[in-house]
Amino acid sequence: MGIGVNEKTDEKEFIWEDLLESRDMSVISLLHGIQERFDYLPEQVLREVAEKTGTPLIEIYRIATFYKYFSLNPKGKYKILTCSGTACHVRNSEQITDEISRLLNIETGSTTEDGLYSLEKVNCLGACALAPLVVIDHEYHGNMTPAKAQQVLKSHNGEVERHCACKNNSKMNHEG
Ligand code: FES
Repeated sequence: MGIGVNEKTDEKEFIWEDLLESRDMSVISLLHGIQERFDYLPEQVLREVAEKTGTPLIEIYRIATFYKYFSLNPKGKYKILTCSGTACHVRNSEQITDEISRLLNIETGSTTEDGLYSLEKVNCLGACALAPLVVIDHEYHGNMTPAKAQQVLKSHNGEVERHCACKNNSKMNHEG
């Protein structure tokens, strides 16, 4: 039964009893369940965790911000991961991250306003031979350069615009 909540992903419809059945009452376990369900930790649900477990909200935020696994913001439909592990770092992964951040007009760890893309910097993705590496929408792109990253991202965004009803909302910066 998954993590034990109902099929609805609307945080207002969150069924606590089901979650509590499948989890122990530790805050960390509940946060894992909520993150799995929503792909982030909605504020309203965190307030309920505080109430139900008798834990101060500030302590819940401390845990939520300590572990990288948890996110306080909704993720984009398409996730972009730039690797900052050693092999990628020495091959200028920072410049690639900066270029993608510039193209999307977002900081690392954020999501575009239209909800299409989120950008995250992660540690070694386990494919160091391909360094520097970027993963866009689950697809690995190795030996990246800022120019290649721009090309790959624009091509992905072009596909999205062709196939997505929200094409006019895309905020990607198409200026070179
Ligand atoms: S350091 Fe980037 S894939 Fe290993």
